[in-house]
Amino acid sequence: VEKTFVMVKPDGVQRGLVGEIVNRFEKKGLKLVGAKLMQVPQALAEEHYAEHKERPFFKDLVSFITSSPVFAMVLEGDSAVSVARTLMGKTNPAESAPGTIRGDFGLTIGMNIIHGSDSTESAAREIKLWFNDESVAYDRAVDVWLA
Ligand code: GTP
Ligand code: MG
Repeated sequence: VEKTFVMVKPDGVQRGLVGEIVNRFEKKGLKLVGAKLMQVPQALAEEHYAEHKERPFFKDLVSFITSSPVFAMVLEGDSAVSVARTLMGKTNPAESAPGTIRGDFGLTIGMNIIHGSDSTESAAREIKLWFNDESVAYDRAVDVWLA
């Protein structure tokens, strides 16, 4: 079974969207196996977005992500990485379909509400980085109706 890292960004937390977003992933069937509200240290933000270090928006991205708390999660389920990305919508909210998180709540690419790992390799790296590789293993009665 697959795990993914998902984070409600500072704009989502400030706008009171944490509950709505968690609700969508839960209703989809993904299992919450880790969660925390946290202020992101500068070094963690830079490490998380290291792949974008040379991009012109890197500085803005890091200062945005450290500007106010984020809500970080580990979600588990069949194809969790791609399923979470599908629920999130495209990177640019202006191009995200209605019904997706960014499509319903986002307006600009600079503040696109949510992050989700883009591959199983990224998920492994990010769960290690944000949760020290720890998550909570437990069974739900409903799991037999999901897979
Ligand atoms: P994340 O889940 O946040 O990683 O988004 P993504 O995987 O859909 O997009 P990507 O990894 O390519 O970009 C990471 C983040 O950088 C995006 O979510 C945006 O917040 C930001 N970003 C990407 N492109 C731009 C841009 O052209 N301008 C600005 N201001 N931010 C951008
Ligand atoms: Mg990305």
